[in-house]
Amino acid sequence: MTTSRGHYYAGLQQIAAVANAGLTLRRTCNAVAKIIAVSMDMTGCRVLLLNTKKDYLTTVGSFGLSDLYLRKGPLDARKSLPEVLEGRIAVVQHAPTDARVQHPEVAESQHVVTIVAAPIVRKPDMVGEVRAYSRQPRTLSELDEDFLRSAANVCAVLFERAELSQFRDRVKKSCAKRATAALPAQMPPTSLKPTEFAHESEAEFASLLDFYQIEWLYEPRSFPLAWNGDGISLMFTPDFYLPELDMYIELTTMKQDLITQKNRKVRKLREMYPDINVRLLTRKDFARLLSKYGYGPQGDAKVEGVGRVLYSQTQIQRRVRSLARRISRDYAGQRIVMIGVLKGVVCFMSDLMQHISIPVRVDYMDISHYGGDGEIVKITRDLDAPIVGEHVLMVEDIVDTGMTLNYVLAHLASHKPATLRVCSLLDRTPRRLANVKLDYVGFEIPDEFVVGYGLDYKDEYRNLPFIGILKQD
Ligand code: IMP
Ligand code: MG
Repeated sequence: MTTSRGHYYAGLQQIAAVANAGLTLRRTCNAVAKIIAVSMDMTGCRVLLLNTKKDYLTTVGSFGLSDLYLRKGPLDARKSLPEVLEGRIAVVQHAPTDARVQHPEVAESQHVVTIVAAPIVRKPDMVGEVRAYSRQPRTLSELDEDFLRSAANVCAVLFERAELSQFRDRVKKSCAKRATAALPAQMPPTSLKPTEFAHESEAEFASLLDFYQIEWLYEPRSFPLAWNGDGISLMFTPDFYLPELDMYIELTTMKQDLITQKNRKVRKLREMYPDINVRLLTRKDFARLLSKYGYGPQGDAKVEGVGRVLYSQTQIQRRVRSLARRISRDYAGQRIVMIGVLKGVVCFMSDLMQHISIPVRVDYMDISHYGGDGEIVKITRDLDAPIVGEHVLMVEDIVDTGMTLNYVLAHLASHKPATLRVCSLLDRTPRRLANVKLDYVGFEIPDEFVVGYGLDYKDEYRNLPFIGILKQD
């Protein structure tokens, strides 16, 4: 079928009117999706938002697509029509057999044949996609593609407007709450949130995840649990999916009988989908989690003063394991002596050594800095046992100027170890004075003061399970 310019002009006119109607982002995008589908004579359409890490796409508005299709699972932007990430239009002629389609079995069952996708670009970034779907095979003309691109341009503006308004709300909220002690005063930098939550508790949980930089997707997948003839009679859509942990989470803050009901669904889901990791969080679990991280009233660990999380617990643990693997491989068949300087290194040392798969001996030193600028270093606690002829791995929490490490390495070298190498969790180079070689580095960090995971500011914050940037006063 051919669609005339006039027809598309009318479509764009409608889109412009909807964009300026003062609706929420979701409702605006639903309407835009409908206008696109109708104008292009397609079965359905959806507007997708790309997250900041550019790895997942989330639906912000749709038309003509089943819930099962919309919630077929986390949509990985790199696997699903990857050319759109590079700014190009993608056309899929036969979805069930196309390698670029991430869930072909769902496309098949939902009779989706042709897919056309256009990038939503906010220069220089890709921020989302518009996808239109057809149940009939379709070829697309230049005019069709131009129309889709124009609609996508309007979506870019809609996203930007919604982001600004969310930012305003966040600032207002954080100003109002600043008086309460446990809440971090500065909100983490987040971009557009695609989601209007069904419950306040979900929004709270999402902001907790944001603060800890734990990636989340809201209701990305519906699991059919029972069928009635051809139709699905029971479906379960967990609230959140956490890609880093590969875990689905269902929050339940309601009455006990509802918890029992949800428990039954969760049990059924586990039976039918044994590979899926799903957790039910009750109000109590959730409160415990909030308070553990300093959000709740009985939170004892000090988080106040931390501006934002730089590395989450998961990110740290993953990196520590990979460092331990490399070290174990490099020293295969040997024994090492791991030496740390107290106290900042305790968390890192403890986690690192547990993942090292060769024999290990551990020793600690303590030093004090004094003199005008702390430039004089003195050893206040020396090693327990000699290291002559040993393979020594000096373990550090952070190397900044490198002066401490330089001094300690010279001291260790004078005891004639067989080899002497350095493993530092963090490496901050901008103020480096001493030319020290780091053999293993966890993360290179920006020029900011960090706390947590053993690192302190005036002896506080060491017990936080993550590494955060301290706010500057
Ligand atoms: P350097 O001698 O300047 O390399 O300083 C290294 C030591 O200073 C580390 O072992 C830490 O104990 C401390 N330090 C440096 N930067 C930070 C930071 O950002 N947070 C907490 N401690 C730090
Ligand atoms: Mg230290």
